Amino acid sequence: MTKERLEKYGLNGYKIPSHVAVIMDGNGRWAKKRFWNRLKGHAEGEKRVDEIVRFSREIGVRYLTLYAFSSENWSRPRDEVDGLMSLLAQSVKKRRDLLLDNNIRLNFIGDLGNVPEKIREAALALSEETSSQSYEMTLTVALGYGSRDEILKAVKEIALQVKKGYLEVEDIDSQVMKKHLYTHDIPDPDLLLRTSGEIRISNYLLWQIAYSELYFTDVLWPDFKKENFVDAIKEYSNRERRFGKTTEQIRS
Ligand code: FPP
Repeated sequence: MTKERLEKYGLNGYKIPSHVAVIMDGNGRWAKKRFWNRLKGHAEGEKRVDEIVRFSREIGVRYLTLYAFSSENWSRPRDEVDGLMSLLAQSVKKRRDLLLDNNIRLNFIGDLGNVPEKIREAALALSEETSSQSYEMTLTVALGYGSRDEILKAVKEIALQVKKGYLEVEDIDSQVMKKHLYTHDIPDPDLLLRTSGEIRISNYLLWQIAYSELYFTDVLWPDFKKENFVDAIKEYSNRERRFGKTTEQIRS
């Protein structure tokens, strides 16, 4: 990471989180304030994704994980769900060059079973295409994702292994658990960021954020700019992560 790039954003000397997970909230309220349809808010939110992906890559974030669509979001009004799916399809098409030119791997977590087949295929094809290049950053999109479902799926798979005699109960530890999570090949988030003033986790990465720093901002996602991301990183950098240890242990 060149010093100049960090200097440009006033981030020189700050710790850059390796993995940032984001709950992109507030698209609906952003649109409502303007008397617009909620979908206009999502479309504006999608543009912010582009900016934040580019910025993350520029400052050396290695993993960016975005909550695009939760398992609960399937119960939103039909036109909103359809609109979000078509936004996903456009996004996959439009962002191919961004991902390939910047050595970014696209990864999905969640149950993609309900995503319309054509859109799912295009999304997975781009994921495969970007995974075969040598990559510097992993962009993970949580789609049809729910953390409790993810944990239950893992528990069932592990229980089945025990039942079949492939695994002893005593050998079940957090490494075994991790192997069965959607996030098996990415590290836990260092920083979890949520926009729009809501102070909750909403079934996102519950297992993975055990030791993450949490950052909440009132800014609505469509208004979330690089400068806001810089603020979050500065705050993250100023916090001391102790992982349950004492300050002295961490510093020795
Ligand atoms: C939460 O805002 C946001 C979402 C449910 C969707 C996030 C999607 C994007 C940012 C666009 C990119 C998405 C895809 C699928 C490529 P909200 O609607 O809950 O806002 P509100 O709380 O103000 O109503």
